[in-house]
Amino acid sequence: MRISRQASLKKFNTFNVSENADVIYEVEDIGMLKNIVSDNNQILILGGGSNILFTKSYNGAIINLRNKGIKVLEEDKESVLVDVCSGENWNDFVLWAIKNNYGGIENLSLIPGNVGAAPIQNIGAYGVELKDVFYSASGIMLDSLKDFELKTSECKFSYRNSIFKNELKDKVIITSIKLKLTKGNHNYNIEYKGLKEKLLKSELSLKKISDEVIKIRQSKLPDHKLIGNCGSFFKNPIINLSKLKTIKSDFPDLPSFKIDSNNYKIPAAWLIEKSGFKEKRNKNVGVYKNQPLVIINLGEATGKEILDFANEIKETINNNFNIQLKEEVLVI
Ligand code: EPU
Repeated sequence: MRISRQASLKKFNTFNVSENADVIYEVEDIGMLKNIVSDNNQILILGGGSNILFTKSYNGAIINLRNKGIKVLEEDKESVLVDVCSGENWNDFVLWAIKNNYGGIENLSLIPGNVGAAPIQNIGAYGVELKDVFYSASGIMLDSLKDFELKTSECKFSYRNSIFKNELKDKVIITSIKLKLTKGNHNYNIEYKGLKEKLLKSELSLKKISDEVIKIRQSKLPDHKLIGNCGSFFKNPIINLSKLKTIKSDFPDLPSFKIDSNNYKIPAAWLIEKSGFKEKRNKNVGVYKNQPLVIINLGEATGKEILDFANEIKETINNNFNIQLKEEVLVI
């Protein structure tokens, strides 16, 4: 375990913001966790730091989980139950699954971050969400230091949301998750427009889907190692039918995806582009040219500058469309 006091968080967040934390624990052995929790009042659990924006120094302890391990627990002809430690890199795990011909997470290739953070916002991309293959999350309750295991239905997953962002916010450390993956008879999902166009004609495989998803992501999303970012900054808003009709009467080209008879998800990227923010920059902060839902750190931006820019986008969209965007990233 490595302990750093009054240390910079720069290498712990993909926005590359350099705020300080009182203390950072880099923990490989989860046996140490209960002592760390007992010794500190204010705790923040950090995985890959790919969905967090620090706007000020953190007055407390950051626990950066680095526990590793992937284990097959059970298998039958059709499926396999896999246990993965929180500190594993998500994409490394996806590639491991594809190599072993385990299906279900190929559409989630190249999502940044660590395994332990995946259930918190129920990561999703290209028609698949983590909840579709989820079995359970295990870890420690911060107040009682008791171990827990929560099954899928108890995690209350929905679009970019779960119990870990609500009732259990700041109350648990997830140390591993279990997923149920397919072994044969994979349920390939190529419903996302860009995937269907590319893959329909050829014979499908997990690897082909993963390779195509990686290509799409690389063409639309910036690599945080080169340009600081946290992927989508906002969630796609869900609006009701009457609001959809009102906006469509002015903007007939508004894309929309039906959720149920009265609710439609619309792309925040479209709202941001229509509001004139595409490729807009303000000093060290801007939106990414290929995907305006992604806010980028062009150099030495502070978290506060990034937040101010995001708030400007929010206000403009509220004025233009009467829609309140909600952050997807956690703002500290
Ligand atoms: N669009 C524009 N202008 C643009 C780009 C996109 O108007 O410059 C509109 C288009 O109408 C396009 C639509 O936005 O059809 C959707 O764009 P895209 O397919 O790129 O996806 P998204 O809805 O913007 C969501 C996720 C992404 C995920 C993709 C693919 C959220 C908040 N974001 O983005 O997730 O990769 O779908 O499934 O749900 C992330 O969470 O960090 C993330 C990148």
